[in-house]
Amino acid sequence: MPSKQVLAAKDGAVYTTSNGAPVAEPYAAQRVGPHGPLLLQDFHHIDLLAHFDRERIPERVVHAKGAGAHGYFEVTHDISDITSSKFFTTPGVKARTTVRFSTVGGESGSADTARDPRGFAIKIRTDEGNLDWVFNNTPVFFIRDPAKFPHFIHTQKRDPQTHLKDADMFWDYLSQNPESAHQITILFSDRGTPDGFHNMHGYSGHTFKFVKDNGSFVYAQIHLIAEGGFKTLTNDEAGKLAGDNPDYGTQNLFETIEAGKYPTWTCYVQTMTPEQAEKFRYNVLDLTKVWPHKDYPMRPLGKLVLNENPQNYFAEIEQAAFAPSHLIPYFEAAPDPVLQSRLFSYPDTHRHRLGVNYSQIPVNAPIVPIANFQRDGYMTINSQGARPNYQSSFAPLTYVKNKGSINGAARDYEREAKHDNWVGGAFWDLAETTELDFEQPRALYRDVMNDTDRDHLVYNISVHLGNVKSAEVKARTLSYFASVDQTLSDRIAKAIGAPTVGPLKVKPASEAVRFRAGVGASTQF
Ligand code: HEM
Repeated sequence: MPSKQVLAAKDGAVYTTSNGAPVAEPYAAQRVGPHGPLLLQDFHHIDLLAHFDRERIPERVVHAKGAGAHGYFEVTHDISDITSSKFFTTPGVKARTTVRFSTVGGESGSADTARDPRGFAIKIRTDEGNLDWVFNNTPVFFIRDPAKFPHFIHTQKRDPQTHLKDADMFWDYLSQNPESAHQITILFSDRGTPDGFHNMHGYSGHTFKFVKDNGSFVYAQIHLIAEGGFKTLTNDEAGKLAGDNPDYGTQNLFETIEAGKYPTWTCYVQTMTPEQAEKFRYNVLDLTKVWPHKDYPMRPLGKLVLNENPQNYFAEIEQAAFAPSHLIPYFEAAPDPVLQSRLFSYPDTHRHRLGVNYSQIPVNAPIVPIANFQRDGYMTINSQGARPNYQSSFAPLTYVKNKGSINGAARDYEREAKHDNWVGGAFWDLAETTELDFEQPRALYRDVMNDTDRDHLVYNISVHLGNVKSAEVKARTLSYFASVDQTLSDRIAKAIGAPTVGPLKVKPASEAVRFRAGVGASTQF
């Protein structure tokens, strides 16, 4: 039965002021006589208006429109050969989990069917703290140098003068930053318009690390594969729904769960040893690339099930604060610069959006007791009682010696220093594009897509690119697609009535920065 009816049947709540006093006339303001001005003594009315005036909090700067639900994550397979994580080595363990799906560029009232990546943010409440997997529904991303992120996002949002979305700005940025070609080829296929929020896969995109007690680790990419498959809409279906029912995905998710058809995903991990990473054709920290499944097979790990709708959207979904830096022991961030930037950006934006004590809001609060030296601040709910607010000799906190976690400052073992150092020297060049960047989108276009997929890709791009006014941006974008595949570019050119052009001039693949043993040794900083 829908929750509203349950409430109507059971909730005989008495109407009160915010200090709990019963109110006889909820719809009346006190005034001086039948025609006089209002009274300052009417706390009920003033408090009502003052609270209403403050109802809106900042919407998320990206991923503002979303929907979410609760459920559980269950570890189904033993992976103790690659990690000492207590959680991930306990098959059968289930953790209460909250998931929020979202679009990226639109405002909080925008259409669920917009062509955009979908956010797939997961909060897994384990006995060792909350693990947040802040994923997308695409296995790659637009950038690999985080300094580009705010610029890139600005071009996908509104023009500062016209306050309109702007196709020139959109393609101007992308065609100048062609490492985006892989993500754009996916985004302009029908995968860019998923059929609802829950009929899609989720991917870490970034490389993480599963670590063991002895200090060894494997690089890891996480995949969540939807049991019902990845369902998509055509460009025209998505456009029509955006007008007819902008909340299509939100409604679909709520009603599916309410009907007891619980969305389920199988969780897999792809792993790569440090030695394999040295030989990998691409930089293991480059999130514009996928790891071929035949070389790095998918290994089952767990299961995600959504079986409970929120009772209150604002409290349980809008106030949910996901952060890639919310990690648990033995599951670590790799030094992918985009991921490293995200470790900072999310808690930072939460402090702005929700306040410094965002972790104390019930949806964000870990299920394990918190003990540290953070105190006070706006909206403190738990100030940790009488416990000393420094490391006191009278009541010291115990430090868990945490060998594998970035949370543990002191480590027991010597890392494989050589491998850690590989990152040296690579950071500057990640912004540059080489021939390597077109290999995977080319394979996607030529080998993975069928004729219908290719037709839709051409159509979807043409509809958008056709709105560009600048001939220069159009030509550069056609070159960008020619670098993926010349026939793709020629077909788009024909569809938008533009002259055909050849590929972009970029550096050869041999000049791409990859991890090589010893690179770090000479470039310490
Ligand atoms: C949301 C920053 C890249 C997935 C956000 C938010 C910020 C942000 C500030 C708003 C969070 C909030 O208000 O609660 C960044 C930066 C990035 C980056 C600085 C790169 C430098 C990525 C990537 C992914 C991703 C690569 C996926 C692989 C998400 C998701 C959300 C989000 C799923 C929505 C979380 C939710 O539902 O609350 N991002 N982001 N972001 N981002 Fe990113």
